[in-house]
Amino acid sequence: MVELKKVSRSFTEGNTKHAVLKNFDLKIEKGEIIILLGKSGSGKSTLLNIISGIDIPDEGEVTIAGKDITKLSEKDRTLVRRNKIGFIFQFFNLIPTLTVRENLQLPLELTNSDNQEERINTILSEVGLPERADSYPDKLSGGEQQRIAVARALIHNPDIILADEPTGNLDYETGLQIVDLLDRVVKQKGKTMIMVTHSKDVMGLADRVYSLREGKLTETKKDSVIE
Ligand SMILES: Nc1ncnc2c1ncn2[C@@H]1O[C@H](COP(=O)(O)OP(=O)(O)OP(=O)(O)O)[C@@H](O)[C@H]1O
Ligand SMILES: [Mg+2]
Repeated sequence: MVELKKVSRSFTEGNTKHAVLKNFDLKIEKGEIIILLGKSGSGKSTLLNIISGIDIPDEGEVTIAGKDITKLSEKDRTLVRRNKIGFIFQFFNLIPTLTVRENLQLPLELTNSDNQEERINTILSEVGLPERADSYPDKLSGGEQQRIAVARALIHNPDIILADEPTGNLDYETGLQIVDLLDRVVKQKGKTMIMVTHSKDVMGLADRVYSLREGKLTETKKDSVIE
């Protein structure tokens, strides 16, 4: 479902070249849930951006649902992302000039989905915010914005979910609601997910846990992870 082969990505600042991913391989089967650990700045968001086609590696292949997206035009890469991927961003990325309802409608419009109103109402109930459809994002708390960001990533029923710290800004109780939602909507429906998190409560969802360090991945035992 997701395969990276010999992927390298570095960023240049001034005269220094900083290698974030080095000759990087990763293979994730359909229905697998992978958790990604790693220190701040280790490249976790960079990796998710590459898998989603938001960013392109300097070298290597990124195969999503059978297509090497590094070989596609910008337009075709965008189509793969729209149709196949739901992205829960680390900093939400809700559109400030649109209401909650309109933010949720966007992925449905872009994929020509039917029953839009019903789907919006259902997902808002699932994230526990049924009464906030007409609010603008800046009127919501951080945790509420995060729940809307989760709803937006899931609403068009994508096969692959990329989640960058989806419970990072939530209190314990609300965090558990999101874990429960991801369990029902992602794990039980057999979706593929790659999630950056350090929360112990989320570890239970994972099939495998990896640590990203110095541009490489190592598999980590689930039980050895502490919060
Ligand atoms: N567009 C960019 N231009 C220059 N440097 C970048 C860019 N994106 C990321 N980097 C650098 O790449 C490194 C990895 O960044 P990344 O955002 O992937 O880290 P992260 O593991 O997600 O960290 P955090 O846990 O803090 O979110 C950082 O040193 C960052 O400065
Ligand atoms: Mg990050």
